[in-house]
Amino acid sequence: MTPSAPPHPRTDDDWWRSAVVYQVYVRSFADSDGDGIGDLRGVRSRLPYLRDLGVDALWLTPFYRSPMIDGGYDVADYRDVDPMFGTLADFDDMIGGAHALGLRVIVDIVPNHSSSAHPWFTAALAAAPGSAERDRYLFRAGRGTEGELPPNDWESIFGGPAWTRVPDGQWYLHLFDPSQPDLNWRNPAVRAEFEEILRFWLDRGVDGFRIDVAHGMIKAEGLPDVGRTSADGRPQIELLGRGRLPYFDQDEVHDIYRAWRPILDSYPDGRMAVAEAWAESPQRLARYIGPDELHQAFNFDFMDATWSADSFRKVIDTALAESTIVGAPTTWVLSNHDRQRHVTRYGDGPVGLRRARAAALLMLALPGCVYLYQGEELGLPEVLDLPDELRQDPAFPRTGQSRDGCRVPLPWGGGLPPYGFGPDGGGPAWLPAPTTWRALSVAAQTGDPESTLELYRAALRLRREHTALPGGPDGAADPVGLSWLESEPGVLAFARTAPAGAPGLVCLVNLSGAPVTVDGGHGEPVIASQALDERDGGRMLPVDAAAWFVRPATG
Ligand code: NOJ
Ligand code: MG
Repeated sequence: MTPSAPPHPRTDDDWWRSAVVYQVYVRSFADSDGDGIGDLRGVRSRLPYLRDLGVDALWLTPFYRSPMIDGGYDVADYRDVDPMFGTLADFDDMIGGAHALGLRVIVDIVPNHSSSAHPWFTAALAAAPGSAERDRYLFRAGRGTEGELPPNDWESIFGGPAWTRVPDGQWYLHLFDPSQPDLNWRNPAVRAEFEEILRFWLDRGVDGFRIDVAHGMIKAEGLPDVGRTSADGRPQIELLGRGRLPYFDQDEVHDIYRAWRPILDSYPDGRMAVAEAWAESPQRLARYIGPDELHQAFNFDFMDATWSADSFRKVIDTALAESTIVGAPTTWVLSNHDRQRHVTRYGDGPVGLRRARAAALLMLALPGCVYLYQGEELGLPEVLDLPDELRQDPAFPRTGQSRDGCRVPLPWGGGLPPYGFGPDGGGPAWLPAPTTWRALSVAAQTGDPESTLELYRAALRLRREHTALPGGPDGAADPVGLSWLESEPGVLAFARTAPAGAPGLVCLVNLSGAPVTVDGGHGEPVIASQALDERDGGRMLPVDAAAWFVRPATG
């Protein structure tokens, strides 16, 4: 195995600016007890893998007590671990193990909604309309002569109306599944509770939070209609990230983060928060970031970019310009647990894999923080043929869309499914892995220089050496740290600004559809997603490939 450079020191408060964060979808990462479900001890056991991969931090998806209707994004107790995932002691052990290896740990916080199994919601249902218990959620009278119609036209992100009626006639709001009632963030008790929850996990040593639906907690006063619905052929979800909805990205949501930031700052060692936020423009998204709000927001535009140089260039330029304004480098994301894996989005099969490998080198060469989704380092494709009866995404029955295909348990090794996911190689897994994954397991790829896993390992090592060193080009002196180079059409070419005396890194990505000649002035190749073609003393970069070059230090 290729040895990796040492991780960023945990004493660096600005670690998140250039970190590589690995998203652990806990349920599908590693199963320690053979019940077919990944757990915290499983995470603990695989920490050396993550250290050797060369990432700086882990983001764990929710492991709290939950009926698991929405994969744990339906939390019944924000201060406890679900028995399926282990215990609080297992959490402490896992985070201690991570810190000992120099890895930071970010946890998911789900403040927009609780589970309907949360004691607050049970109490709300038992209490009368107008009670303090109901006021922690969004209960309203219906419309129509008998209140038989929902209070407004809002639609659930998972399909269908965003309102469910309770036996006494009131309706409650749920922007997601009916088992995920939205909390009322205009109620001070809700705010106080979440501030305590943040402290609870900060006290346990977490290095940061990924904030679920960070744009959703405040709803427009009076809960006005959107004025367009699926019934008239214009689903509201089409406005997500493109337009303003009365239930998303309301100005007052920023008050919440201005209250959270001092809490994070009151702890030592650079505790941070990253928003899962959707806004109508990069400018509106940037409002979540800054010294008095959050440290980062996921840059989903990068994930949504199409396979073309223009599309990527536009997203990169916009993101870097916004990050300069707010004074924080942006984030880069290609996949997560909600989105079809990028190998498949880019065309599936060999083409998709080639492009995914090139995209990885592009992303890892950019200034800022990178979020990897578990399994992308193995080049895993989306599993498209899961039997319907095994799919667990609550959106599936209502929309026919399911996110299960990117959540299949990871293949670690061995010849039989689920390929080392469980403690003794065999055993159950909550979703079946395709037999083609035998060749994609960690063990199968380790030591194979052509493998995607070794490409990621090598790239992460080089990234540390050349672009992400603390005090290096990501430091305050040059907030962007990237300059575009002249290139042929369809080719992305940029240099990372190196500090004086350090070698510079050049990245080329060929999206032109034909091999391109590499300019000898770019320096010596140090890594390529496909072997460069050496001919007549010149070098060609193949189609759908990327490569990094190191230029000697300039004065
Ligand atoms: C975003 C999460 O990433 C997704 O998995 C979840 O279903 C929704 N938020 C609701 O919590
Ligand atoms: Mg288990």
